[in-house]
Amino acid sequence: MKTVLMAYYSHAGHTARIARTIHDEIISTGNACDMVDMMECVREGVDWDKYDIVIVGSPIVYGVYNKIVWQFCSKFQHILETKPNSFFNVTVVARSPLKATPEGNKYLQRFVARSPWKPRDLKCFAGKVDYPNWNWFERFMIRIIMKITDGPTDPSVSIDYTDYEDVRGYARHCLILDLLQGRR
Ligand SMILES: Cc1cc2nc3c(=O)[nH]c(=O)nc-3n(C[C@H](O)[C@H](O)[C@H](O)COP(=O)(O)O)c2cc1C
Repeated sequence: MKTVLMAYYSHAGHTARIARTIHDEIISTGNACDMVDMMECVREGVDWDKYDIVIVGSPIVYGVYNKIVWQFCSKFQHILETKPNSFFNVTVVARSPLKATPEGNKYLQRFVARSPWKPRDLKCFAGKVDYPNWNWFERFMIRIIMKITDGPTDPSVSIDYTDYEDVRGYARHCLILDLLQGRR
């Protein structure tokens, strides 16, 4: 049995839902998983000895990763490098297949370039356009971006672009990262 740390940041709840799907899939295979907010990891610390594999996930909000993601990556860079690991991001640009690949997703490329920790496995998930649950400013800003990028602009719509079968497949893939990346 393997024990996985699923560390995540979520601005509006959707990345938490993806992290929960990964967590549940890992548990369903008879392995163990702790799903922990990156804020808790940074502020309270992590019992790293418990974990065989680490998955880190974050959304993009206004073109950037939250500062807690950078704090997590720099604070734990050295320990992350000793564990089989994967990083995923969640963006609405990834609703287009070209931008759903690590090579085609500029936010993921920027992460790899800037992060002191270089993840050994990468994944992009399409996120959610959730106008009813966003505040007026968020709605306003995303509607402009959607207008430019030919996405939905109706402020009453909520569209979940995430492919949950792909999320579950990714969770199972992460369970063999120790074999793919080798134990250190
Ligand atoms: C305020 C705000 C800004 C966003 N900015 C971007 C962006 O710059 N690029 C992008 O692809 N998606 C952007 N998104 C879409 C989010 O990445 C997507 O909604 C994701 O599902 C949010 O995950 P969360 O609920 O865990 O925060 C933005 C969403 C919000 C609410």
